[in-house]
Amino acid sequence: MNHERLATMLRCPACGAEMRYKPRVFSYCCDGRVLHTFRVKDQFADLVHGDAEGRQKKVDRAFDRVAGRLYEKTVTGATAFDRMVVELMWGTTKFIPLLFELLGSVAEDCEPGYFLDIPVGTGIFTAGEYSLQPNLEFIAADYSRKMLAHAYEKVLAEDYGNVMLVRTDVRSLPFADGMFTGVLTMNGFGSFPDPERALDELVRVLKKEGKLAGSVYVRGERLATDFMLGRLGAAVGMFTRPIYTEEEFLAGLESRGINKIVTRKVRSIMFFSARKCGAAPPAAAPAAEVVKEDEGQDPGALPPSGE
Ligand SMILES: C[S@@+](CC[C@H](N)C(=O)[O-])C[C@H]1O[C@@H](n2cnc3c(N)ncnc32)[C@H](O)[C@@H]1O
Repeated sequence: MNHERLATMLRCPACGAEMRYKPRVFSYCCDGRVLHTFRVKDQFADLVHGDAEGRQKKVDRAFDRVAGRLYEKTVTGATAFDRMVVELMWGTTKFIPLLFELLGSVAEDCEPGYFLDIPVGTGIFTAGEYSLQPNLEFIAADYSRKMLAHAYEKVLAEDYGNVMLVRTDVRSLPFADGMFTGVLTMNGFGSFPDPERALDELVRVLKKEGKLAGSVYVRGERLATDFMLGRLGAAVGMFTRPIYTEEEFLAGLESRGINKIVTRKVRSIMFFSARKCGAAPPAAAPAAEVVKEDEGQDPGALPPSGE
């Protein structure tokens, strides 16, 4: 990872000042009145200000416990047992291949530039795609050190030159406004402790006409999923409330000036792809165009939005 180059794109997560990288102390420091310092740990830039508290602490502990093989086996349905667990939780395993395809289909529809993958988790669904997108520079970010450590193993194994790993909090991203031509948020909104602030930040760092896409667990589609994830999952910290319904999530995008939305739902998992259309629309503006497809129509990745 080129720390000097990364530093030129950063804003201090504590005070918003510009940042510099100091190689002798393996740290990023800000230029603000109070010097905030962030260290490089385990090969990623650790840009979280302060310790995890409240809901974030619970979520972080939950992912630290499962990070690695256990997490990856389950989410990819690696064995018959894992597939049974996925079926039980989501009522289907059909969305798994779509998760592997998502980054590729979104990235191909982006202008050259920087692309944010948050939360990258262990990189199981996305890390394999980075090297196939030579026009993009990826910032792969997550809050959990342990999840990031596994993502690092993958990046290292493939020796990619276009990836930088960053530990950050989606609620206060250390990046300048409009820095990314694409932002992918896969399976994060069920876990982010403050989804409203997360949406604000993802939209802030996205360039005008940039592409925002991802997958999100939406409430109200399947009773068993809502019970297991919304209640039991929340109790162990993997999921945090509020969990949006499809309508609430889409309204959240539209109110932030995200438009040309294409969605595809596979039971409780909604894939979406959209573009940032400048300033948020005034209250009386017509609703954004939303093209919806259901799981029966076409098993491929999401079609491009905005053409
Ligand atoms: C269900 S995992 C999804 C990871 C990956 N996208 C995938 O699909 O395998 C949710 C991730 O959100 C991360 N996360 C939770 N709170 C976060 C925050 N405030 N900022 C950034 N990432 C966060 C967790 O550490 C975890 O890796």
